[in-house]
Amino acid sequence: MVRPYGIKVNKRKERQERYDKEEDEEEEQPKLEKKQKPEKSVKKAKRESTSKAEEDNEDNEEKETSEEAADDLDVGIPIVLSDNKKEKPGVIFVLEKASLEVAKVGKTYQLLNSDDHANFLKKNNRNPADYRPDITHQALLMILDSPVNKAGRLKAVYVRTEQGVLFEVKPHVRIPRTYKRFAGIILQLLQKLSITAVGRREKLLRVIKNPVTLYLPANSMKIGFSHSSEKLVNMQKHLATVCNDSDTVFVLGAMAHGKIDCDYIEDFVAISGYPLSAAYCISRICEALSTNWNIL
Ligand SMILES: C[S@@+](CC[C@H](N)C(=O)[O-])C[C@H]1O[C@@H](n2cnc3c(N)ncnc32)[C@H](O)[C@@H]1O
Repeated sequence: MVRPYGIKVNKRKERQERYDKEEDEEEEQPKLEKKQKPEKSVKKAKRESTSKAEEDNEDNEEKETSEEAADDLDVGIPIVLSDNKKEKPGVIFVLEKASLEVAKVGKTYQLLNSDDHANFLKKNNRNPADYRPDITHQALLMILDSPVNKAGRLKAVYVRTEQGVLFEVKPHVRIPRTYKRFAGIILQLLQKLSITAVGRREKLLRVIKNPVTLYLPANSMKIGFSHSSEKLVNMQKHLATVCNDSDTVFVLGAMAHGKIDCDYIEDFVAISGYPLSAAYCISRICEALSTNWNIL
């Protein structure tokens, strides 16, 4: 399945170059370690995250598998160094109901998505609308690219999949910008339960124990977002009332349809009269935060 570390040295170098080209203005990046031992407490996450769908006589849907894309990630997931770490109040994002499900398609495990696995999903009586890992990808890019993160005010990001697998994304990780590479890294994460930066021993992404409230500061305000909330607010003005002394948690759905329904949310707001994408919503939240904290 996954090749042992160190076999494709030249190929990796080539790929590192291509990867870096996309990421022009950033610093040189450390590499990723390939293999981590699953934490015992979350071992079952692997089973939960992998679809029970039987290996089907799958067609030629996949030209290049996510597993091959995961091999690309041998070259390393870069990190971004941000300003700060003075203890100013910060924000935590939680993405709920993320559609990130792994299944064996043909001979390989892949992260299911409605474009590449339409036939597979149809054969297994799945609704393609439920398979939208791109929503999580775009949402993560929007969070991690934000000036709020670069100014060091993003404390953590948590993602909980529709299957209930919870993982943490460190704010200084740089998520692959292309979908194929993103799919590779999520596949690797859900199978191996963590992804570590070489030389640092730090887990940049790791599957953790539920519930997410174990990791949220006790005194933080937890705000949920939904178009269907009756409380329509101007995000800018709303933030000024909640976000000045302690950390604030923003909870959004990373799915195409439905509403997030989490018992730890204290305030449910709509920030537009229109249904927005999760990524656009995050961008609006981050803009409001930047204005509030004078981050330019
Ligand atoms: C693609 S939407 C999911 C659609 C779902 N019908 C809804 O509005 O909850 C993804 C996420 O973006 C957020 N969202 C979308 N439109 C919003 C709005 N007008 N106000 C607040 N949050 C919104 C919600 O957190 C939602 O779960």
